[in-house]
Amino acid sequence: MSEKPSKYYVTTPIYYVNDKPHIGHSYTTILADVLANYHRLLDVPTHFLTGTDEHGQKVQQAADANGITPQEQCDQTVVRFQELWKRLEITHDDFIRTTEPRHKTVVQETLQDLFDRDEIYRAEYEGWYCVGCERFFTEKDLLDGNCPECGRKVDSIVESNYFFRMSKYQDWLIKYIEDHPGFIQPSFRANETLGFLKNKELQDLCISRPKSRLAWGIELPFDQDFVTYVWFDALINYISAVGYRSNEEQFKQWWPCSCHLIGKDILTTHTVYWPTMLKAMGVEMPQSIFAHGWWLTGRTKMSKSLGNVVNPMDMIDRCGVDAFRYFLIAEMTLGQDASFTEESFVKRYNSDLANDLGNVTSRVLSMISRYCDGKMPTPAPEGIDTSMEDALWKDVVAAAESMGPMISDMKLDGSVAAVMAGVRKINVYLQERAPWSLAKEEGTEAQIAHCLYTAAECLRVCAALLYPVMPAKMLELRTALGMSDARPHLGRLIEFGVLVPGSEISQPGALFPRIELEKKEEAPAAPKPEKKKQEKKKTEPQKPEQPVGDGLITFDQVMAVSMKTAVILEAERIEGADKLLKLQVDLGSEKRQIVAGIALHYAPESLIGKTIVVVANLKPAKLRGVESQGMLLAASCGETLKLVTVDGEIGPGAAVK
Ligand code: ME8
Ligand code: MG
Repeated sequence: MSEKPSKYYVTTPIYYVNDKPHIGHSYTTILADVLANYHRLLDVPTHFLTGTDEHGQKVQQAADANGITPQEQCDQTVVRFQELWKRLEITHDDFIRTTEPRHKTVVQETLQDLFDRDEIYRAEYEGWYCVGCERFFTEKDLLDGNCPECGRKVDSIVESNYFFRMSKYQDWLIKYIEDHPGFIQPSFRANETLGFLKNKELQDLCISRPKSRLAWGIELPFDQDFVTYVWFDALINYISAVGYRSNEEQFKQWWPCSCHLIGKDILTTHTVYWPTMLKAMGVEMPQSIFAHGWWLTGRTKMSKSLGNVVNPMDMIDRCGVDAFRYFLIAEMTLGQDASFTEESFVKRYNSDLANDLGNVTSRVLSMISRYCDGKMPTPAPEGIDTSMEDALWKDVVAAAESMGPMISDMKLDGSVAAVMAGVRKINVYLQERAPWSLAKEEGTEAQIAHCLYTAAECLRVCAALLYPVMPAKMLELRTALGMSDARPHLGRLIEFGVLVPGSEISQPGALFPRIELEKKEEAPAAPKPEKKKQEKKKTEPQKPEQPVGDGLITFDQVMAVSMKTAVILEAERIEGADKLLKLQVDLGSEKRQIVAGIALHYAPESLIGKTIVVVANLKPAKLRGVESQGMLLAASCGETLKLVTVDGEIGPGAAVK
């Protein structure tokens, strides 16, 4: 376990209290918890901060809709987050609410300081405002006169406001990101930020809102007619919570933060606003900002408006908190999107937890009961062949040793997979060593004792390594193995011989009882509206646009998609949309315009003349205000994306089947 940092400070975004938490919020918080737990396991002093973002328009609007005051809205909703975190075994060291005086004071002092040093100035502003995004845009930012971020209508606004001189830090920030490769992670997100910074002139940031328009916020210390823009207030939580301007010793202990965990939706605020704010304040940069991907339902983005948000409570009721945590960590490759479906959950639960880990646990414990009187046997390596045991132990130790580097590389799914591979090795070993056969022979006691002791030791190591992900279940397992100390730590983790021979073991019952997929209704040929959705409605996430039943589609459904070859005639970037390219393609019988999200992977000029494959009968749609008359096919994996092309010469308009 190398790469041990001297301290570890991890944060989650502070969540808006406009609505109750969903799986996305749970995910980031569980991820932070697992990282915090791993560092505690390594005996690294750890500080884990989460909290709630309680000011701004979203909260004001939710309060208005609920007919309560904004403060009441905050006080009622924050409890739902806090209760969920308790239920999910979250071990944060601090929970900050931006309505707390300890935070508000720091925000006001910071604003005053920046104002005094002319980092903030007042100006008359004419522009466009998107209520949904709570952001100002200039005329040229707009796409077809609409918000360039969400496409919705924007309002024209002329008012006086205060501005932070963000623009003057543009060149500094570009250089900082280029000089610090681990600062924004994964690296393709650093490229995304650099693309944005290099392609467009950074504006100064409007950091105030006139109270006449929005009163719910922290008052500017130098002008009581204004409140602070919610992002300028919220980002400061990461330092106000650890003593910035209030407790120098504490601040020195934890800052700079080791890792700000965020979702990819809030990349710009964290990689552009926040670093420039800190620079102006004269505060050190955080060590890393890590943006993870989205949880999707099937292939659809999980969103409240689609009504397909998985309620974590439902899954937890059915399968337990630890299995839920395990699934989230094992299933998502950090940085990429992942899909949450009941099918994938049940499949992974049964194979990894019920089968592999559950099985090996009950095998080891029940054989110790049967062959060793329920007491931890004494290892007896002398005079017997221990080659299989030695090899097994070596494998498990290797899994443990890969943990440190994998955690510092944020490869959590990989680290869990490495432990599970170790667990499966124990199973394979038991199958080959077959202590039940040995038991039929005379004089094999030492061999059996050594076999079961080694298997139990391997299980002890695996349980410790999985503890950060499944604390309650792994404590149960440790207790069953006769370990009396509560939580594992690095100490003697990979030393052979920690379990005490002669100590009583216990049988905890099935750690992970198998679960069945809730039975699906057959897809009705015609809708049967009267048929009740029965009980399952409660636990089964709704999946619009998902294939029914076994996930397979028919030949006719495939044939309904018209795919054709097309030759790219022109390609150009779309202003304000860093990922999109506008292509003019020749489809044989006609010319089409296609907008594709490939700008980070292909230079426009490199595309001219390529023969690609497009879906020709897709309904036209507007992407960032630009019409797209079809869709091209591309293969992607991680950061790599490659266009689907054809093997050899064929003209445009050829059917692809
Ligand atoms: O943006 N998949 O708060 P927020 C994965 N208050 N993660 C998801 C997700 C999904 N489908 N949905 C949400 C805010 N998240 C601001 C933050 S920080 C100074 C201020 C997670 O309530 C993910 O971490 O909208 C995302 O960044 C965050 O919730 C947004 O939470
Ligand atoms: Mg959001």
